[in-house]
Amino acid sequence: MANVIVVGAQWGDEGKAKITDLLSKSADYIVRYQGGSNAGHTVVVDGETYKFHLIPSGILYENKICVIGPGTVIDPKILIQEIEDLKTRNIAVKGLKVSTAAHVTMPYHLAIDQAEDRGRGNKKIGTTGRGIGPTYADKADRCGIRMSDLIEAKELEEKVNWLVPRKNVILERLYSLPPEDPKKVFEEYREYGEKLKSFVADTSALIFDAIKNKKNILFEGAQGTLLDLDHGTYPYVTSSNPVAGGACIGAGIGPTSIDRVIGVSKAFTTRVGEGPFPTEVFGREADELRATGTAWAEFGTTTGRPRRVGWLDLVLLRYAVRVNGLDCLALTKIDVLDNLDEINICVAYEDSLTGAKYYDLPLASGIFKRVKPIYETLKGWKTSTNKCRASNELAPNAQKYMDRIQEILEIPIAIVSVGHKRHHTIIIEDPIHGPKRVLQKG
Ligand code: IMP
Repeated sequence: MANVIVVGAQWGDEGKAKITDLLSKSADYIVRYQGGSNAGHTVVVDGETYKFHLIPSGILYENKICVIGPGTVIDPKILIQEIEDLKTRNIAVKGLKVSTAAHVTMPYHLAIDQAEDRGRGNKKIGTTGRGIGPTYADKADRCGIRMSDLIEAKELEEKVNWLVPRKNVILERLYSLPPEDPKKVFEEYREYGEKLKSFVADTSALIFDAIKNKKNILFEGAQGTLLDLDHGTYPYVTSSNPVAGGACIGAGIGPTSIDRVIGVSKAFTTRVGEGPFPTEVFGREADELRATGTAWAEFGTTTGRPRRVGWLDLVLLRYAVRVNGLDCLALTKIDVLDNLDEINICVAYEDSLTGAKYYDLPLASGIFKRVKPIYETLKGWKTSTNKCRASNELAPNAQKYMDRIQEILEIPIAIVSVGHKRHHTIIIEDPIHGPKRVLQKG
């Protein structure tokens, strides 16, 4: 029995979907604990591509309970589309449970998110436009609509009649946007509530019972560590907590129930949206890392935007090991580096103004935006890793690349992904039951 958190160790899009898909096989429950339809998870099974925004990809296995937890925000329209899409592809959705406490993204959240980010000009965050920030803001401001309200017509009507006129003031006066009609909003969302009613449950109680019954639970974060509201590269972050600590709050369980934390990182770095990115590359180098034209191509699942790409940043990963308490790492997309003559890894930063060196993420955003990467350059392996199924089948230089990463991060790489399909995977050590990381003194 093991309860495991899988967390993105970079700016999201690390290939978590593939790793959670792999680990979901031995899990009984798969729990999504934060974020909303800003997330995009792509899983390829038997040549079929599935794209998920809200539903845990574990739904593709039979007889799993897939939970969308209280820490998430839900656009009901998108959730219903996802459920319908799975049904038409003959995937059973009876195991799907949605928390009564999850907050609902309303049409005014979408409008405000998009208008607000546009209005920031050169300070824009580059949000996904899915209403995430405003939904979490209303939650914190205690004027959100929760799933428990969505499925109770009277509660929903009361809240919509209270909130929509207030939001209309913002839409009209601040953003010169058309107002919403409370009656129409109520009718539309009441219908969504009806469609989703059978999935809504007290998921915290459900998970507690599962823990008591020694079930295996996989907690999956959307986004990544550096997009965390408290621990990421603020203000260029999302509005929730993808870090491992967020799993307890976002699922409604205590930290004593967690056995292991697995971080997922690409073998290089990507980011979508705005914000400093010290190891970012451009031009031909970027085209190689972006793998344009392949199934691995770096374009956002939710927005279709080309992702920004750069070398592996071990300063950021070291930070991710610390704030998540990672036990081991799953390294994805190593095959993207197959053709390179030389590969850079960033081992420290230098402040371009003061010359100070940083081995850990400087949290002051003023410093972070002017640091320059200090690289170590390793020799490429110039051979395909795609067919390797054991670590000793990897070229010596690929092994050296991984050894150096492990040495700097002081955690083992347990899984390596060498392609986008399920079987393009090397398990180096059991990521769930393998040796746990023990902090060394000094
Ligand atoms: P929001 O979550 O839509 O508010 O966007 C805030 C920031 O997080 C933007 O830079 C987005 O591009 C980024 N972001 C949100 N979700 C994801 C994701 O699933 N992968 C990568 N970046 C994301």
